[in-house]
Amino acid sequence: MGELARKGFGVPEGAAGRLGGWLMARGNGPTEKHLVKLAGLQSKEHVVVLGPGPGVGLRVAAKYGGIVVGVDPSDTMLLAARERCSDLVETGKVQLVRGEAADTHQPDHSASVVLSVNNVHLWEDRPAAYAEIRRILKPNGRLLISVHKKWAPADLTAELTAAGFTNVTSTTWEPPGRLASTAAVYTANR
Ligand SMILES: C[S@@+](CC[C@H](N)C(=O)[O-])C[C@H]1O[C@@H](n2cnc3c(N)ncnc32)[C@H](O)[C@@H]1O
Repeated sequence: MGELARKGFGVPEGAAGRLGGWLMARGNGPTEKHLVKLAGLQSKEHVVVLGPGPGVGLRVAAKYGGIVVGVDPSDTMLLAARERCSDLVETGKVQLVRGEAADTHQPDHSASVVLSVNNVHLWEDRPAAYAEIRRILKPNGRLLISVHKKWAPADLTAELTAAGFTNVTSTTWEPPGRLASTAAVYTANR
């Protein structure tokens, strides 16, 4: 990934990152909403969203679930998410944490559901991230990952199975509009 793409979309930073966040909120928002819908959140379920970027999925998850924690390494995106979810951050319903998939700073077995949209391809050490997700998920907790199909790591299903997840499924979804491409969607249980 080139420097401009990294600052715009990878780990967004500065002006390029703010523009990237604006574009992502519009282009990827429907996929964020789709994944939350697929998760079938219950009102008391504790949700961790990895790489929430500008925070569209955080707002939707907070509508259906319990406490929602967004974990992102980008200060620019944490600020954008804080602005988008300011009322929910105020009440503590949405919490924002500087971290990454392999180091979420969340307690053991605290999450009912972990969601990730368009960042699994950015995780530098996916096995470490899978181990971290298994650490924070409750027994039989759910993991849902969506990523632009063209960016999806090969053999993600096999990777999740090898990491110990069960009931691993993969499918595709066509987001509406012209800004987003086909999404590859994976679901699994801890
Ligand atoms: C392409 S953006 C996607 C944002 C949003 N989920 C969406 O689909 O519009 C990637 C996001 O993942 C974050 N990110 C990058 N590396 C990450 C990692 N290792 N763990 C978690 N999030 C990461 C970035 O900071 C950024 O907010």
